[in-house]
Amino acid sequence: MFTRNFDGLVLKNELKGIELVKEDDLHYYIKAGAGENWHQFVMYCIERNFAGLENLSLIPGCLGASPMQNIGAYGVEIKDVFESLEAYHIRDKKIVQFSVNDCEFGYRESVFKRKHKGQFVILNVIYRLRKQPVYNTSYGAIEQELEKLQVRELSIKAISQAVINIRSSKLPDPVVIGNAGSFFKNPEIPVSKFEELKKIYPNIPGYPVNKDMTKVAAGWMIEQCGWKGYREGDAGVHAKQALVLVNYGNAKGQDIYILSGKIIESVESKFGVTLEREVNII
Ligand code: EPU
Repeated sequence: MFTRNFDGLVLKNELKGIELVKEDDLHYYIKAGAGENWHQFVMYCIERNFAGLENLSLIPGCLGASPMQNIGAYGVEIKDVFESLEAYHIRDKKIVQFSVNDCEFGYRESVFKRKHKGQFVILNVIYRLRKQPVYNTSYGAIEQELEKLQVRELSIKAISQAVINIRSSKLPDPVVIGNAGSFFKNPEIPVSKFEELKKIYPNIPGYPVNKDMTKVAAGWMIEQCGWKGYREGDAGVHAKQALVLVNYGNAKGQDIYILSGKIIESVESKFGVTLEREVNII
């Protein structure tokens, strides 16, 4: 998100192409250009029964962004299906290969957002997709949606459709109304802090990260602070998902940024939890 004029060159990656580069007993290895549209790529894989990306249906944006911040949704992250990528080192003018370990994936994190920030252009990615699907319907809403769809036999196509329905019901389409998906990350807080909050707010949603940390739903906290559906000029908080900030038309990046600051402050003062922006601010 731009909060000021940018004095530099902005390039839009249009590198295309999808190719099966390798196959073994269990997997297909699919290489694709970073400029491919993510959702179209997911649909391409589902049509051919390449399994593993179905939970990541309908995420807006380009394929090259998927490892950049280890995109994730409905119980799956890109690191689960990632094989390798090639990236161009801008200063050294060299193409470098990155394995899964080289990328240092974390929750919405990779080396490309941290130590290599601004240094590489991702050119293409190889995904390791399964011949036999391993279905992941652990995210509650998926099971409910599959029931609604009256799915008799589970398939990657059915899971994809369930995810598409859930996303369309909550998340604004960026073509219709400007947004960058979740504006904040779900914060990870010590289990003891979560237990304290749970005493005061018994409904607070939390998911264990490990034995010490719990991930809390930022959208829930933002809603509790009264922000859901809020609008100030053309900057607002989405009425169906408080984690998403929206631009109704003419808000400046700076307006959205100021609104995000107010939200961070109010969540901090009500819950004692500091939200971190997921969106890249320039
Ligand atoms: N919730 C509320 N009010 C809200 C929003 C959420 O009470 O306004 C509650 C929900 O009822 C639920 C919990 O918070 O109990 C979690 O909500 P949801 O399932 O909608 O997911 P999320 O944690 O808000 C995350 C990701 C999304 C991803 C979904 C599904 C982050 C920052 N966001 O949202 O990713 O699609 O889970 O896996 O981790 C993105 O990163 O851009 C993105 C959209």
